[in-house]
Amino acid sequence: MRAVFPGSFDPATQGHLDVARRAAGMFAEVVMCVLTNPAKTGRLPLAERLALLTDMTSDLTNVTVDSSPGRLLVDYCREAGIGVILRGTRTPADLEHELPMAQTNRHLTGIETLFIPTSPPHSYISSTLITATAHR
Ligand code: PNS
Repeated sequence: MRAVFPGSFDPATQGHLDVARRAAGMFAEVVMCVLTNPAKTGRLPLAERLALLTDMTSDLTNVTVDSSPGRLLVDYCREAGIGVILRGTRTPADLEHELPMAQTNRHLTGIETLFIPTSPPHSYISSTLITATAHR
């Protein structure tokens, strides 16, 4: 079965990689797809996000990279024939934020979302903190 692991990946982190690696052991293919989060202002250009994702996942033979900017995740899933969405969750607050999206996506299309708990060493990593501290 193929699954999509969607995100802003702005930039992708070791936490994302941990989730992708574990998902790769469970699904025939995991597509890491860069989408637009309207609540976030983009930092890295799309091409840089994709290049980083491709580089980070180069040893994971069944992880591929794609993008669908400005479009709905469920539309991407339908077009790509993907029936499962994967999301990493670090904290209860993450889950609180994720549940309405998962329920909406399922309501619209029947596509299920599976949550993969982040490994504890990665719980406090975020793209925002990495960006904030990268240039010191
Ligand atoms: O890494 P992020 O920012 O937490 O990822 C959120 C993302 C991009 C997966 C989410 O905002 C999304 O699915 N965007 C695509 C637009 C969409 O489908 N919105 C409806 C969600 S119910």
